[in-house]
Amino acid sequence: MTTETIRTMLLRYSCRAYTDKMPSDKSLRAIAEAALAAPSAVNQQNWRVIVLKNKELIADLETEGMKFLAAQNDKSTYNRIMSRGGKMLYNAPCMVIVPINKSFSEKYALIDLGIVVENVALAAASLGINSVICGMISNCFAGNRAEEFKKWLGVPKDYEIGLAVLLGYAENQGQPHELDYSKISFLE
Ligand SMILES: Cc1cc2nc3c(=O)[nH]c(=O)nc-3n(C[C@H](O)[C@H](O)[C@H](O)COP(=O)(O)O)c2cc1C
Repeated sequence: MTTETIRTMLLRYSCRAYTDKMPSDKSLRAIAEAALAAPSAVNQQNWRVIVLKNKELIADLETEGMKFLAAQNDKSTYNRIMSRGGKMLYNAPCMVIVPINKSFSEKYALIDLGIVVENVALAAASLGINSVICGMISNCFAGNRAEEFKKWLGVPKDYEIGLAVLLGYAENQGQPHELDYSKISFLE
């Protein structure tokens, strides 16, 4: 048995190489609206949904993030990114950045964050737009320019960068990961 929604879930995959093509504003607005529809603990909605299309700012975020990783003692993440194209943001033309406020509950803020970004990724997939959830984005806000970036983006006081979802169109079609059916228990 399947539905459009389930098909979208099964076909989504993380895209790590993007063309220059920018998704339409209409699509991006629909994706942002889907983000707002996410459930959250006690309906706190302790997140913001920031759609970023600015090429220069995205390039600056990329540079700062890589600079931060290159300066770490443990170079494994930096080397992994260098070995697969050298871009932690994969040349994505745009992204949704999701800042969160943990003051109500750290645990639920993180769960709510996960649900928002999955709504973004699935809404994008349903519109034929590729995506990858990006935890690495925090590296872009770890250096000297963090406050400047947050100000530019309008991140409210008491909010920290949670995750981003990079959006665009794939250079080459990818594949969803294999499903591990052994993880399902079906009891009667
Ligand atoms: C919370 C979270 C953070 C992630 N951060 C990154 C990231 O920074 N860079 C990246 O390339 N993929 C990132 N991913 C994508 C995962 O690597 C990916 O979902 C996983 O390998 C399964 O592949 P699939 O999305 O194609 O099914 C992240 C996924 C999640 C859920």
